[in-house]
Amino acid sequence: MHSKLLILLIVGIVLMTASLGWFGYQSFKTGFNAKAEPHMLEVFIARQLRHLAIPVGQRTTTNAVPLSPEVLADARARFADHCATCHANDGKGKTSIGQNVYPKLPELRFRDAQSMSDGEIISAITMEYAPPTCLRLEKENQKRISIV
Ligand code: HEC
Repeated sequence: MHSKLLILLIVGIVLMTASLGWFGYQSFKTGFNAKAEPHMLEVFIARQLRHLAIPVGQRTTTNAVPLSPEVLADARARFADHCATCHANDGKGKTSIGQNVYPKLPELRFRDAQSMSDGEIISAITMEYAPPTCLRLEKENQKRISIV
């Protein structure tokens, strides 16, 4: 009885070590590299860590700027002025900066970015827990938040 349990435990440990080794190899064979495509596990873990780094209170903040055609027009103009250099006007990030920084720019239209809460997006562009590159671009919170 005990020996079966021991074998099961050893097999479990071997499998876990092998999966960690495989993950480590897959994730880090290119190092953290701006040219290489990151492994999906690296992307997944990075997104989870960033999600956890934003306090719940901040994460659940909603955009206080009411939506109106004027706000949308202003936000589009702001995005074109302050964000499109890296993210491109269509949000796909296919710019010379966007494809050559680490981490590479995620497509803002993809499910991952679209599923970010207002609070997470506000964090991403107001410098608290976010990519330093997007930050410090808009000085007034209200103007930054209108983009969200
Ligand atoms: C100098 C280049 C640069 C500029 C300018 C820039 N960003 Fe970013 N942005 C990045 C990089 C690099 C990332 C990826 C880093 C990350 O997600 O940790 C990113 C990530 C983001 C994300 C998170 C997307 C996701 O799926 O995780 C949002 C939202 C964002 N930017 C919005 C903006 C907005 C809005 C502006 C304009 C106010 C802006 N950015 C300006 C470089 C830039």
